[in-house]
This record gives sequence, structure tokens and C-alpha cells, in this order.
Amino acid sequence: MTDADQVREEAVEAALGKLDLDTKTRLLAGRDMWSLPAVPEIGLGSLVMSDGPIGVRGVRWSADDPSIALPSPTALAAAWDPELARRAGRLLAQEARRKGVHVLLAPTVNLHRSPLGGRHFECYSEDPYLTGAVGAGYVNGVQDGGVGTTVKHFVGNDAETERFTMDSVIAPRPLRELYLAPFEAIVANAHPWGIMTAYNRVNGVSMTENQYLVNDVLRAQWGFDGFNVSDWMAARSTTGDIEGGMDVAMPGPQTVYGPALAAAVRAGEVAESTVDAAVRNVLRLAARVGLLEGAPAEVAEPPAPIDGQALARELAARGFVLVRNEAGALPLDLSAGHSVALIGAAARDARILGGGSATVFPERVVSPLDGLTAALGALPGVDLTFTLGADPSDEPVPADKGFALRAVCRDASGAVIGEGALPSGQVQWIGDDLPEGATYETMASIEVTGRFVPRESGEHAFGTRGLGAFTLAVDGETRWDGVQQMGDEADPFEAFFGAPNERARMVLTEGEPVEVSLTYQVPDMSALPLKAIMFSLLHLGPQRDADELIAEAASAARAADTAVVVVATTDRVESEGFDRGDLGLPGRQDDLVRAVAAANPNTVVVVNAGSPVELPWREEVAAVLLTWFPGQEGGAALADVLLGDAEPGGRLPTTWPAVLADAPVTEVVPTEGRLEYEEGLLIGYRAYEARGVRPAYPFGHGLGYTDWTYESLEAGADSVRVRLANTGSRPGREVVQIYLAPLSDTEERPNSWLAAFAGVEAGPGQSVEVEIPLPARAFEIWDEPTNGWRRIGGSYEVRASHSHAETRLTATLDL
Ligand code: BGC
Repeated sequence: MTDADQVREEAVEAALGKLDLDTKTRLLAGRDMWSLPAVPEIGLGSLVMSDGPIGVRGVRWSADDPSIALPSPTALAAAWDPELARRAGRLLAQEARRKGVHVLLAPTVNLHRSPLGGRHFECYSEDPYLTGAVGAGYVNGVQDGGVGTTVKHFVGNDAETERFTMDSVIAPRPLRELYLAPFEAIVANAHPWGIMTAYNRVNGVSMTENQYLVNDVLRAQWGFDGFNVSDWMAARSTTGDIEGGMDVAMPGPQTVYGPALAAAVRAGEVAESTVDAAVRNVLRLAARVGLLEGAPAEVAEPPAPIDGQALARELAARGFVLVRNEAGALPLDLSAGHSVALIGAAARDARILGGGSATVFPERVVSPLDGLTAALGALPGVDLTFTLGADPSDEPVPADKGFALRAVCRDASGAVIGEGALPSGQVQWIGDDLPEGATYETMASIEVTGRFVPRESGEHAFGTRGLGAFTLAVDGETRWDGVQQMGDEADPFEAFFGAPNERARMVLTEGEPVEVSLTYQVPDMSALPLKAIMFSLLHLGPQRDADELIAEAASAARAADTAVVVVATTDRVESEGFDRGDLGLPGRQDDLVRAVAAANPNTVVVVNAGSPVELPWREEVAAVLLTWFPGQEGGAALADVLLGDAEPGGRLPTTWPAVLADAPVTEVVPTEGRLEYEEGLLIGYRAYEARGVRPAYPFGHGLGYTDWTYESLEAGADSVRVRLANTGSRPGREVVQIYLAPLSDTEERPNSWLAAFAGVEAGPGQSVEVEIPLPARAFEIWDEPTNGWRRIGGSYEVRASHSHAETRLTATLDL
């Protein structure tokens, strides 16, 4: 403990001593959606939390409160660079401070157990070591900036189906060696100030009440001293949760804590000392972030300012993974007279982030079309065309392009009591975040109203998302009037993630404005624990004939020297709140790529998806570049990489299967509420190797723009030393991956696993040597009989590899 820790602990004890039971229990429940109450009498400010992980949304779910949007966590992990993750974390701390946020609800370190997992894009990797290393870098970076983190979702939240109730049934070894491992590494190496417990159960016990995993493992065995917050609306039991080590129930104020917890103490059901322990954790967090008078903040001076746009652009390129590059198709040769045909809906309307609570609203978005227009415009005699080709989304989405909308709140008499501008047709008002003058008690209806100027002539569809009674009018006439009831999927965030409903179709003319209006009847919310308004006015533009669009793209490709096709998933495919059913690209995108590739052998496909998708045409195109969800500067980074101003620096953090059926885990739907992790230790590359299945692209794969020759490998028990040379013609960065493979195993273990890695940089013709420490844990297994880690001796093959499937040098190590 440092001197400052000592002073903080004393301040915490002094503050605790001044609190009565009611104030203590009030402090353990949210004041609203995102914050805890202040207690000015003891000099305690209000702690504000916000999502995470690619930006800092702030306390409003709205585009009027913009945040930087970095690439998806899968992209960050693809850089295989904890220091880069640390820089990302520092930028996020800067954003948090700017927005008055003290705790970032991130990082998400559940594993890529199955590519079907809806939040796959939000997690780092299928490998626990890589996840822990990137996660620790991220947490260190955020906390360098004096902002807390909550490492989430502890634990076993590796899929979304029935997430509020499902039971992840995980045997002790995979639980320790895979799913808990990233959390453990982050606690050891980054000392997080918070953790978020998951919605689900693990081995029969809800994670908000899991005394064993929280009190025994996380706190007693690992020494975690931060605060433990429930996932939003996960808290279900006053005594169960407090006994289970859950410190804070979010959101509030109506939760299982607060007055209910005070009553439980008074009734003798909960010891006051248990409440004190939780309050101590909250006060310690407040002290760390500088919200408790008399306690020095962990960080007095924030680190030097960071240029967010520049870092977002750098990060994006560092995470792009070039998985195929035939005949040096990339970088593009753009001498005068060269022409590029850019194709795909996502090239124009970029998909920069995954859906759900990870959503943030950036100030600007650079689409691939924007990025390439700017970059190619600067090159003399280079021509760029754009065609749509195929649209992955044939469902209405929140009204956006061409709409100028506002929300009008009225009371029961119809009088206007509040108004607010809306950047899109989406209304997401949570807690007190209402237009000025409006209250939940007085508001009887909300009308989303304004003008729509169609971008194209033809049949336009209008729709709604959300539950309740709606009236839709277009051009002064009522087109739909009805009630949308809750479906079978009783997720409280249904209105947010749920299916869109088409309500009306109308033929409109380009440039001719029409009035639109969607009125929502506000229900009685007095009995609800969380007050929120969530619904959307949706729109879908005229749908052109798909074959015609593809033919148009093919002819543009034929006329150009190079075709660049951007294919993408949509937020109906990758989002929080549900899992995927397949790994296909939505709509006619596969047909599009095939048609373009047939028209132009020089076809480069850019895959804009946060997690694996099937690429059945991958051998028919010249190059495939995975750009994940690349964040707000994605299009600028794409131009940098296509033109060769930056190297695509990424390596796959997760195996890409050729087809879903090859993935080791394809079942994410619980049976009678239970999801058995029957594959045990064999997820990701461990499983492909054990079963002899060849994926489309292996774990760790990524080509970059130069070549590397591995020259020597010396292996010791504590570290390995690797020498390699850049034998290509450009400077570059290689991720040296060290795998261990037991030569004769007495234990049940995977054939090989990632033990360590390091990034090296070298110019053309240069050699570089790197010493890479081998963590002791790489040689250990979880030993059930002794309930502890056990080192396994014997002979190991140590592999210095370019990817899991591409070993460059081996050495034998005898332990
Ligand atoms: C998500 C969390 C998130 C929280 C607050 C939950 O639904 O699971 O990851 O931090 O909402 O938005």
C-alpha cells in the first residue's frame, strides 16, 4: 500500500463512520440510470458511470452529446498490442473527464466461445491470454487518466440468448483456464477499480449472488479491492446480492438495495458489517477518482492531451487484418490513368460500430467513400466511381437521411409541455433525460414530427420500433394506428434491440417534402423501477431490383482497373440482446462479390463486420481485408491502407471458420435454461487443431505488407529469444507469437496454446531480436483435487510462429 492509498483508506473509514444505515444503503443503489447519490455532508460527490468500451456515451443516449468512436474491441485485439490498448484507454479517460464521467463501463472480456455470440464484436478474442493482455492494457490506460473501469461481464456471459436467466454450466478447469483467466490477469496486471457482474448464472448461481466466484475467488484469492456493480437491472435479491458481494445495484433508485436493504438489516437478515464492506468499496472508488473530500485522487494531473481523431485513425489501420493478398494486389498501384470502382452500401453508409449498449454517437463519421474520395482526389488522373451493388439491410431503420425531426411532449389536455430536437427517428430517453418541462407524471403523448425530403423517387416504407400505442401519419393522413405488444422474448431492452415493424408504404418523389408524424401514447410508469422512453420512427427508401443493382456494379467493376467491394453486417445481425443464427452476409452481398470478381480479376473485398462471417468467394478475389467495425475514422484508415500509407497491422484474434458448422461451438441456445460448456477446454484454435479442421483463416493470421524471416529461437523456462528479419521491401510490424505444445502429455491439455507474444518493428532488410517473457501460468493447469494451480513438467515444443497455423521455428524445452 502506498502512502496515498493509506490516506485514502483513512478518509474512507472516516467517511463511513459518519454515515447512518439509511444513507449507506442509499449509496449502494443508483440515483438514476447512470449515477450514485452524492452525500455532501461527508464531502462525497456523485459517481457517474457510462458505457464503454469504444467511446464514452455520457449520461444521454443521444447524438447531441457526441463521443469519440474507436474501432470495435475485436479490432483493438487484432492489433495484438497492449500498449496501443493503453493509449486507447487514455483517450477514453480524456473523453470521460470531458463529459463528467468517473467510471467507464468497460472493457468486455468475455470470450469468443462461439462466433454466434451477439456481443462477439464487443469482446476481444477466443484466447484468454490475448484477452487478458489487451484488457490489462486498456484498463491501465483508462485508469492512467484517473477514470475507473468495470471489467465485465463477470463471468460466463459469452452469448446473449436468455441472458437474464440462463445458466452457464462450466467445469472447474475451463472456468479457471479460459473464462476467469482474463479477469484474473487484469486484476493482477492492471488493478481495476471496478468489476461488473453478469446477468446470467454460473453453475446454478446468479452472478449477482455468487459468493464463491465474487467473495472467494475474485476478492479473497485474487485480491480485488474495487467495487462490484450489477449489470443494468440484474440485481434481483436484497439479501442474496449483498451476501454475494454485489456492492452497487444499477440503475436506481428503485432497486433491491436502498430502503429494502436497510429494512433487511433492521430485520436481522443482513449484518450491518456486510453493508459496510460494500460502502467501503464505493467510498474507495470515490476516493480514487477524486470525489471524496480529504482523499487524494489516484491521478492528480491527467496525462498529456491526445488527438482523438488521429488515434482513432491509427488504431483502425493497426487492427485491419489482410487475410489474402494475391499477386500483391494491395497496396493499390495508383499511377495516373488508374480507375477504382468502389461498390457496396456500407462504402457510403459506413457501419462503424456494433449495436446495443456499446453504441456511442461520434461527431463525425468518415465512410470508405469519404476516405477514398479525399485520398484519390489528391492523386492526379486517378478516377473513382461508386455504385451501391447490394444493400445488406432490407428492413426499415431509424429515420435519418432527409429527415428533419423534433419531439413534442404533450400533457393529457394536449398542451405542449416540452420539446426537443431529434437527430434521427430514434427516441431514447432514460431516467431524467427528458426535454425541458416534460415529466413522466405529466407527459401523456410524444409526437416525433417534421419534414422528410426523399433522396429518391419510388415506394418508401415507414415503420415503428418499440412497444405501446402509436399513430403514424405521413403527408397529413393517418397511415397506421395500433398497439405493439411485448413478444415472447421478454428482454427489458426489447424496444431497443427488438424487430422493426413496417407500417405503411407510399410512393414519394425525390426532392418533394412531406410532413411525417409518429405519436406515442406514454403509459403509466409509476410502478416501474426504471423510467425510460424508447421507440423509433423507421424508414426504408425505395428498394431497387437486386439483380439490376448487381449488374450495374459488375459493369462499373469491368470498366475500372480495380474494384473495391465493401461488404457488411447490420445491427440486426451483430448486436447486444440476441445471438446470430448464421454467419452469412445479409442480403445479396455474396452474389455481388461473385459478380464483381467475375467482371474484374483485380477485386479487393473489404469486410466490415465485427465478428466472423462466411466468405464463400474468398478464393475467387484478389485480396480480402477485414476492417471489423472500424470506428469513426474507418474510411480514412481504409484509404491509408489501400494506398499503402499505412500497413494493415492486424492479426486475427479469433479463428475465422470457412462455414459455421466448422466452428467448435455452434449452440448458444440454452436447453431448459442451461447452456452446457461441454467442449471443456476446446474452444477456438484449440478445438480446430484437436479435430483437424482447417478454418478459412487461422488464429493469429494476418499478412501485412512485408515479409519476415525468422532466424533464430532460443527457449528457456522463463523467456524465449527470437531473431527475425524484415525481408520485404517496406517497413513493417510483426507479431511474434509463441505457442507451447507438450511433446508427450500426461495431462488432458490442448495440443498447443498461445503462451506469449510480442510486436517488433523493422525497416526493409533489418533484423531485430526480441526477448519475450513466458508467464508461469503458461505451464500450469487448474488442479481440481487441490483446488489450485499445478505446474506440469516434461518436454515442450516451443514454437515461434507467424500464426497458429504457420510455425516458423521450434525449440525443445525440458522442464
Ligand atoms: C449491458 C452492459 C452495459 C449496461 C449499461 C447492459 O445491458 O449488458 O454491458 O454496461 O447495460 O448500458
